[in-house]
Amino acid sequence: MTDLSRRSALGLSAAALAIAPAARAATVDAPHKALDRALTRIAFGSCANQAKDQPIWDAILDQKPDLFVFLGDNIYADTRDPKVMAAKYAALAAKPGFKRLRDTTPLIAIWDDHDFGENDAGGDYPMKAESRRQFCDFWGEPADSVRRTRDGVYAAYVFGPEGQRVQIILPDLRWNRTPLVEKTFKGGYKAWAISHGLSGKETPGPYDRIPDLDATMIGEPQWTWLETQLAQPADLRIFGSSLQVLADFAGWESWINYARDHQRLFDAIRRQRADRLICISGDTHYAEVSRLDTNVPYPIWDITSSGLTEVWPVTPPNALRVSPVLRERNFGMIEIDWRGAAPVATVTVHDEKGAVKITQVVETAGLKVS
Ligand SMILES: [Fe+2]
Repeated sequence: MTDLSRRSALGLSAAALAIAPAARAATVDAPHKALDRALTRIAFGSCANQAKDQPIWDAILDQKPDLFVFLGDNIYADTRDPKVMAAKYAALAAKPGFKRLRDTTPLIAIWDDHDFGENDAGGDYPMKAESRRQFCDFWGEPADSVRRTRDGVYAAYVFGPEGQRVQIILPDLRWNRTPLVEKTFKGGYKAWAISHGLSGKETPGPYDRIPDLDATMIGEPQWTWLETQLAQPADLRIFGSSLQVLADFAGWESWINYARDHQRLFDAIRRQRADRLICISGDTHYAEVSRLDTNVPYPIWDITSSGLTEVWPVTPPNALRVSPVLRERNFGMIEIDWRGAAPVATVTVHDEKGAVKITQVVETAGLKVS
């Protein structure tokens, strides 16, 4: 009997199944206690509007994942009123499919703008301390979790025994984020986007690259933490980013807008010799796979799944896209084959009924700093 099923058999509360961040203790690289075996099936997703039906949980449960990773916009709080935020978390908690997932499957989470608090919000969002408290309460953080007190809810976890260790890194892209830069559109962005999109053309968002070299997604303390995490031993690393890591250039919020941080991430991977790292991301309201081969320590993959309820009406540009674009409700799966010398990750994106719509096999043997 696994530790997980023991917990279920004991009838522990849903909150007891939420996982404490490894970063809170000295055992940062220890196998996580909630799973006493290697992870082979990781599900992930983003953008779940609590005001809508969420039938997709049934398809996710059918996959029998070992773990589900929430990549942000886990609710659409969009408020500066703590009571409104709490009511929206309660609405998610009441979804029958979500309840079944939480009762049976370990969950880990990071937030994006809407559960941080507001659309495209950054470090100047005034309710962030209260938002952090509600996030930590909802996702079952222990009372002494460092996530409750530090500058953001970033966390990292290691699952599985040596030789089959999966590290999952969840950066916080909101708490310290400096302001975005917006382009100007004659007649306003919305009118332009509608007319452009109606013609069937790829339609970028309103944001621009930020020339200011001091602009940042995560801030210095989190950079220090991230470098430490990348130096931990792991057999496969999953960088779970609420925003796309690679997409170039969609015009929406993305790592690429913060050019210095974008390059610094790849430099940190090289510096810490963080082999076998694959990115997963959310936010976009469509799914796609991106790949970057230039100015990186090894080929970097970014598998984007979004949203669990949300669908975008047009396709933004992305020169690094290597898959079809899926503009319907979706979730992601990572299936890990541990039989070879290096793990092989088969990443799939599924529609609301569970049908596979995108498949990408990632041979991690080549994802190595030379
Ligand atoms: Fe969203």
